[in-house]
Amino acid sequence: MSPRSPETAAPVDAAGGGGFPAAGRGERPAVGRGDGSAASPVHARIALLGAAGYTGQEFARLTLAHPGLELAALCSREHAGRPACEWLPGVDPRVAGLPRAVDPSALEALLEDGVFDTLVCCLPHGAWAALAAERPALADGAARIVDLSGDHRDGARGYLYGLPELFRGRIRSATRVANPGCYPTAATLALLPAVPWLGGPVMVSALSGVSGAGRAATLRTSFVELDGGAALYRAGTGHAHVPELERTLAGLAGKPVAVGFAPQLAPMARGILLTATAPLARPVSPEEARAAYLERYAGERFVRLLDPDEWPETRSVRGSNRCDVAVTTLHGGTTLLAAAAIDNLVKGAAGQAVQNLNLMLGWPEDRGLTSHGGPW
Ligand SMILES: NC(=O)c1ccc[n+]([C@@H]2O[C@H](COP(=O)([O-])OP(=O)(O)OC[C@H]3O[C@@H](n4cnc5c(N)ncnc54)[C@H](OP(=O)(O)O)[C@@H]3O)[C@@H](O)[C@H]2O)c1
Repeated sequence: MSPRSPETAAPVDAAGGGGFPAAGRGERPAVGRGDGSAASPVHARIALLGAAGYTGQEFARLTLAHPGLELAALCSREHAGRPACEWLPGVDPRVAGLPRAVDPSALEALLEDGVFDTLVCCLPHGAWAALAAERPALADGAARIVDLSGDHRDGARGYLYGLPELFRGRIRSATRVANPGCYPTAATLALLPAVPWLGGPVMVSALSGVSGAGRAATLRTSFVELDGGAALYRAGTGHAHVPELERTLAGLAGKPVAVGFAPQLAPMARGILLTATAPLARPVSPEEARAAYLERYAGERFVRLLDPDEWPETRSVRGSNRCDVAVTTLHGGTTLLAAAAIDNLVKGAAGQAVQNLNLMLGWPEDRGLTSHGGPW
């Protein structure tokens, strides 16, 4: 069984390496189109919805260090009218040159005036879909939209599922991209090369940092409730990321793949540490599993296969757009054990959005992004 695209109309982009150079050629991957072609705009002017939230703040931070992305409009209902340096933590007001926050209702006029051309939506689930229905001129008029919520990950309204390691070819020509969820990003990258061997339900267990729950204050995410403990939540099949992951795996496998999920809140600000186990359809030795992962990820700038007996940790990917992956098999090769670590706010959200924008804009895929992490 060879990996296939979740979207039946077109194949996965160059399965087995995403069109990148094969393993062991000793050259830096030629990420993205990156050919400096005349079709690539010099700058994209971004309107950032949900700029005051955690993924919005992270996107702003990454954009400030990006040579081609400009923050042209920052939306916050709470902070409308205030200078960005007053509410965007860490911004250096001497050099940022950022606009004041505006209410989302101002965006249509700003688009009409040519202030921005690209929309990045860092809103809670349902909020961008509702706003887009209310304001079709905004939803239709922006040259590019990247939505970080779960509203369009099923392909609704023509959005493409934006996992670059699977779909970079199609992302390059897309104008509407749905950024994958943080857990599905880590789980898909942990499982992708093993899909041809899967022989039964996949069980995913993951620790998440508390920023994964967003910025709004809740009792559950308060310091006293969290400090010194960890808590399972929505374990089973009820988490919204289960259908997202099942859809991707089924598309790759060409048949349904059942997923069980045990998410856990851990007392750390950011990071996802995930393990996935599954029965295999045939015995696969640890060496064969490793070789397949090495080959699949050989050209991937933002996926790193760890050495045997090395396991991912959140600390080393903190602040980076990298996903660290490890794999082995157990019980005579009949059980897969794969693991991944990402920063939920970077590879799991804002960094992946930048990666997608780089592709959509015809720029090198790693432009403005780092694969270096940590240490704290
Ligand atoms: N956190 C993560 O690790 C992560 C990872 C991957 C994907 N995501 C997804 O990314 C999206 C944003 O997550 P987040 O963690 O950044 O959330 P967040 O911290 O709660 O921020 C969302 C921001 O959106 C604004 N907002 C809320 N409701 C709105 C509405 N109805 N209309 C307009 N603006 C509204 C709020 O700012 P104002 O009140 O100032 O307007 C809020 O600060 C979510 O869909 C989430 O599922 C999050």
